[in-house]
Amino acid sequence: MQTFTSIKALQEAIHTQRLAGRKIGFVPTMGNLHEGHLSLVRKAKELSDFVVTSIFVNPLQFGAGEDLENYPRTLEADSQQLAAQGNDAIFVPSVVAMYPRGMSTQTQVSVPELSETLCGASRPGHFDGVTTVVTKLFNMVQPDIAVFGEKDFQQLSIIRKMVDDLCMPIEIIGVPTGRANDGLALSSRNGYLTVDERPIAPELNRTIQACKEAILAGNTHFSELEARANLRLQNAGFKPDYFAIRDSSTLAEVTEQTQEIAILAAARLGATRLIDNTRLAPPK
Ligand code: PAF
Repeated sequence: MQTFTSIKALQEAIHTQRLAGRKIGFVPTMGNLHEGHLSLVRKAKELSDFVVTSIFVNPLQFGAGEDLENYPRTLEADSQQLAAQGNDAIFVPSVVAMYPRGMSTQTQVSVPELSETLCGASRPGHFDGVTTVVTKLFNMVQPDIAVFGEKDFQQLSIIRKMVDDLCMPIEIIGVPTGRANDGLALSSRNGYLTVDERPIAPELNRTIQACKEAILAGNTHFSELEARANLRLQNAGFKPDYFAIRDSSTLAEVTEQTQEIAILAAARLGATRLIDNTRLAPPK
């Protein structure tokens, strides 16, 4: 497995693979890899011949006062885990390589509407930072397929729309959320939880599952279900950011036309912001 910091060297290596007829798979990450990320790499390996994983803590997607400085950087351990999955190349660009003219004048890619709701409402500019860096990474790697986790369901929806709107010739693959035994969605940010907070954290998933069961049992009073879930989270010690029952394709309110419902939640537990989601068919 080779590690590249230079865009040019990475592109030369990928070009050689492409000339040999190999399909290129890509997994963009911010590092501090856990089993959830490794499942993305395994999926990319299954669907392509040469897998590139990028590790870049993207400053453009962090707001003021967020955890950019403290975001865990664990390249050595990440490299070992990636090698064990059969990952072929790691791309670790510097901030200067990604943003040579600085970030304030960087051309930005923005997906309207989908980027403005839910996490976008509480983290203004976050998704523009994501779509901008992902576009740059896509242009550098030019993959045939790119793999993202369904834990960040809104991010996955936004990237699918961006690829479709901008006619990017890349197939986007979503991989189901990896979970700990108690149901907590795997996330690099779980490492911020204190010993006392960790046993409370799975309550986010349990609240989402309880809401799903209520809908499947025929309860379609969505605002009441949302209010009940918010209260349950507050009682458990969370500060909910949102708990929303939405149409999974538009992330707007559920309508008669909705083919699939998404239940999405974000909540703070102490200093840690956790997100999770599930999906279900609307009850008949
Ligand atoms: O999901 C992430 O880790 C990041 O948002 C991504 C897609 C790597 C872009 O920085």
